[in-house]
Amino acid sequence: MAIRLNLQNAGLREHELEYARPLAEAANRALHERSGAGSEMLGWLDLPEAYDREEFARIQAAAKRIQEQSEVLVAIGIGGSYLGARAGLEFVKGPFGNQLRNKGAEVYFAGNNLSSAYVQNLFDIIGDRDFSVNVISKSGTTTEPAVAFRLFKARLEEKYGKDGARERIYATTDAHKGALRGLAEEEGYETFVVPDNIGGRFSCLSAVGLLPMAAGGMDIARVMQGCADARTAYSNPKLSENDAMRYASVRYGMLAKGKCTEILASYEPSLTMFGEWYKQLMAESEGKDGKGLFPVSANFTTDLHSIGQFIQDGARSLFETVLWVERSGHDLTVPEDPANVDGLNFAAGMTMQQMNEKAMKGTLLAHVDGGTPNVVITLDRLDDYTFGELVYFFWKSLAVSGYLLGVNPFDQPGVEAYKKNMFALLGKPGFESAKAALEARLQGI
Ligand code: PA5
Repeated sequence: MAIRLNLQNAGLREHELEYARPLAEAANRALHERSGAGSEMLGWLDLPEAYDREEFARIQAAAKRIQEQSEVLVAIGIGGSYLGARAGLEFVKGPFGNQLRNKGAEVYFAGNNLSSAYVQNLFDIIGDRDFSVNVISKSGTTTEPAVAFRLFKARLEEKYGKDGARERIYATTDAHKGALRGLAEEEGYETFVVPDNIGGRFSCLSAVGLLPMAAGGMDIARVMQGCADARTAYSNPKLSENDAMRYASVRYGMLAKGKCTEILASYEPSLTMFGEWYKQLMAESEGKDGKGLFPVSANFTTDLHSIGQFIQDGARSLFETVLWVERSGHDLTVPEDPANVDGLNFAAGMTMQQMNEKAMKGTLLAHVDGGTPNVVITLDRLDDYTFGELVYFFWKSLAVSGYLLGVNPFDQPGVEAYKKNMFALLGKPGFESAKAALEARLQGI
């Protein structure tokens, strides 16, 4: 495996894990037997083996066409229809991936907010360059991507005409229903499918994430291979031999000890968006029925100069899961400076990776001493294969830990509340009755 779990500093004794064993193994069994809550949404469980090969080939062909036709792909989507692709691209290509342009198209994301400034900035970045659009929405009715799609579609039609725009628009949505499906069929866009039995936050290795990742130059066959190998490893029914289950059991144990916030910390800026993906996966899956661990993400050493104080010394309700990358792929060394005004010559000749490692180890001990337990997940390297493996590791752990908590990890009823209010305030047909009462409550705001 390209990833390894270390529980040495997790602050749980072996017998505590042992208590969780029958529960975790039963949760794992319920997943594989499809007998637990939300079992109709388990399409991700066997996805790395069972994915549609014909569609996969079409995704690769579409990605190639996008790269030939366009310098830029705008991927429009929100939540599960956005985060995984962006996390994957930054994981593999790094935070400056679009600027370095070593391979693939530049990929920018839209439809994940309602900011006019954001869309205008993106128009400016594209300028008069050639671009394509992948609009992604399982339901096909989500407001943020629908607004962004109208704007980018109009831009494409203005630049290339209706027929030219059609050649550059790709729609990823439900196989049969939803406004986007209807529109795509009417306009003749090439379409890809979000499978019925895969929810948004489990969809990034379906066409939802694979097309933007492939267009951006990722090797999606390697992604699927990493995911398939993880599926095999994390199907093991024994807790002691299954790291995904062990991690789920540790999270469960942490919650029982009052550690109700988990910080996913990494020492590579390339993992920033992976942290965003993780937050959605955990929060939407577990945060319900008044339960759940609150997921936070952090970049170290950057955030050691901000929230580091709290982690060390604030309310003792936290634990950390550290993603450590063993081989960052680059070996810059600290230069010698004869003047040594900054006193840094003691480190001259050291690689930045070595310094980063000392920072990680020193921080780990300081945080553990301060009462913040640490789980460490070591990644060999940041590549396509490891991304696929890590995604599946988190999916599987989360599914087990959701069952341990006693929630349905595959629904998200809480996401609807803000939408209802927003639609009423916007005057959307069907929501009129709530409008006056909401506006009264907003007086003075
Ligand atoms: O995980 C989820 O289900 C959500 O985050 C959705 O992905 C998000 O709301 C976008 O939904 P849709 O793809 O239907 O536009």
